[in-house]
Amino acid sequence: MSGDTRMPDGAGTSPTYSIRVGTAEDATVAGRLHAEQITTGFLSFLGPRFLERLYRRVVLWDGGLLLVAVVRDGRSEKVVGFIASADPTSALYRQFLIHDGAAAAIATLGPLLRSWRKVLETLRHGSSASPGVGRGPEVLAMAVDEDYQGKGLGGKLVRGFIAAFTADGKIEGYTVIAQDNEPSLALYRHCGFAPAEVFELHAGTTSVVMQWDLPREDGSAAPSPPAPGPGPLPS
Ligand SMILES: CC(C)(COP(=O)(O)OP(=O)(O)OC[C@H]1O[C@@H](n2cnc3c(N)ncnc32)[C@H](O)[C@@H]1OP(=O)(O)O)[C@@H](O)C(=O)NCCC(=O)NCCS
Repeated sequence: MSGDTRMPDGAGTSPTYSIRVGTAEDATVAGRLHAEQITTGFLSFLGPRFLERLYRRVVLWDGGLLLVAVVRDGRSEKVVGFIASADPTSALYRQFLIHDGAAAAIATLGPLLRSWRKVLETLRHGSSASPGVGRGPEVLAMAVDEDYQGKGLGGKLVRGFIAAFTADGKIEGYTVIAQDNEPSLALYRHCGFAPAEVFELHAGTTSVVMQWDLPREDGSAAPSPPAPGPGPLPS
């Protein structure tokens, strides 16, 4: 995917926005945006360098996908948003542990030791036996630079993710969102995702599995089986 989504931001020589596949070089910005914008998540606590390694692994591994939103003004290009996915997440974490585990552990030893319980919960998440796992590739995270929010880039990133995995012949994908992150829940709903499960990824924090299924030929989405959880599904 490249330059497939351009939208003029005003007249004349205004900047243009587009979505493209991210490279290993984009992992630095993705890590920084994640740490800055997703302040409540546990991964942010591990810092931008840890996240940069994670997103580099997403790019380098076959089952990973990094898309970035870029703004172009004349000849300059700036990455202002990203979405990252894995299929499946458990395999990404395995790859990360094998290739980056030692370096990441040394660089992030303090925070890792202070939050070992959440580390284990995060690593367990994504294995098919654990709660909170939907069907198909999982969006790990998405963020848009604060200065560029509200311009439709989040929606374009999510639709880019759907376009990428359906082009690969897949018919379903999902993400996990904190239940109180209403803007993100609204965005995913806008893009055709539906709540499928409410669960606690970490004790005391309630999350929602948002599932996307390829609409059937009659226009309806395949049903998401409701799963038990600690609270009602959001409307
Ligand atoms: C969530 C996020 C990526 C949205 O990016 P964005 O570029 O501002 O989103 P868009 O402009 O494409 O908005 C798309 C839709 O999302 C919803 N939305 C976005 N921001 C919203 C807000 N502050 N309040 C309510 N709904 C919001 C709306 O439904 C909107 O549709 P509309 O424009 O027709 O009203 C961005 O706000 C962000 O980076 N948030 C912090 C990180 C985060 O929470 N990531 C998700 C969890 S991993």
